[in-house]
Amino acid sequence: CHVALLVGGISGEREVSLASGEGAHQALTEAGFQVTTLDPADKDDLKTLIDGGFDVAFICLHGKYGEDGTLQGMLEMIGLPYIGSGVWSSALAMDKVKSKVFYQAAGISTPPSITLGVNDTVDVEEIVGSLGERCVVKPATEGSALGVFIVEGHDAIQEAIEKARELDNEILVERYIKGKELTVAVIGNDNPRALPIIEIVPVNDFYDYEAKYKPGASQHLCPAPLSEETTRQIQNMAVQAHKALECAGVSRSDFILDDEGDWWILETNTIPGMTGTSLLPDAARAAGISFPELCTMLIEFALE
Ligand code: DAL
Ligand code: MG
Repeated sequence: CHVALLVGGISGEREVSLASGEGAHQALTEAGFQVTTLDPADKDDLKTLIDGGFDVAFICLHGKYGEDGTLQGMLEMIGLPYIGSGVWSSALAMDKVKSKVFYQAAGISTPPSITLGVNDTVDVEEIVGSLGERCVVKPATEGSALGVFIVEGHDAIQEAIEKARELDNEILVERYIKGKELTVAVIGNDNPRALPIIEIVPVNDFYDYEAKYKPGASQHLCPAPLSEETTRQIQNMAVQAHKALECAGVSRSDFILDDEGDWWILETNTIPGMTGTSLLPDAARAAGISFPELCTMLIEFALE
C-alpha cells in the first residue's frame, strides 16, 4: 500500500502540520507502509499527487486548505481515498459558528455565544450584557488556538475582536467557562467509538499555541481523573458530536467541564494533531493502540 503523506500546506498551522507529518511518517513506516511525503504548498508535489500511483492519502494538514474540505474535494476529483472526514463534514467542523448549529440540533451543549459577521458593528455593551465580562474571542475557522483570546472587560473584548478579524471574516464570541479542559478522540466510520478522555492541564491559564506545542508547557492526564459516569457521558457526547458533524475515520472534540459538573463542547477537529506532544496518539496509547496501529486503522477506515 503506497501512502501519500500530505504535510505542510499554507495555513497558519503549517509548522504544526510539519511536526504532525514527522510523527506520522515514522509511525506509517514502522507499520510497513511505503510512504511518499508531499506538500500541497509545492506545485510539483501537487502534480506528483495528481499524477497518481498512490493507494491512499494520509492527510496531516491542519486548518485552511487541508482540514477544511478544500483538499478533500481535490482528492475526490482525482479518485484517491483519504483518511478522515469528507468534504462537507470537514468544511462544517472547521467552522466553529456553523458547527454550533449542528451541536445544538443534536442536543450537545455549547457555550452561549454571539457571532459577528464581516459587516456587523461590534456592540461590546450588548456582548457583555448577554455573555458577561469574561469572554473568549475566536476566528470562526482557525486551529491550534490561533487568534483565540480569553479577555475580560470592554476594552479588551473590543481589541480582541479587532485582532481576530485580521484572521477571519466571521468571529465567534463565547462566554468564558471556567473548568477542566477535556478532549476526546473518536475513531471509526459507522460505529465510532471514543478513546480514553484526556484532561489538559496547561502550566499557564490558557491552552494556547505555545502550551500546545512547547514540550512541558502542558500536562496530559489520560485517562482523565473523572468518575465513571462522567467519563461515559462525555465520551458519549464526543461520539454524538462525531455523528452530528458526519465525521469519518477520526475526530477529536474539545470540552470544558465546569465547576458545577456541566460540560460544554467547544469544537471538533477532523485532522487532530499528531506531533510528539499531541493528544490523539496519547489517547490511542491509553487504549492499547500504538501510533503505528492507529495509523493503520485510519487507513483501513479510509479504504472501507
Ligand atoms: N488543530 C490542532 C492540530 C489540533 O486540534 O490538534
Ligand atoms: Mg481546532
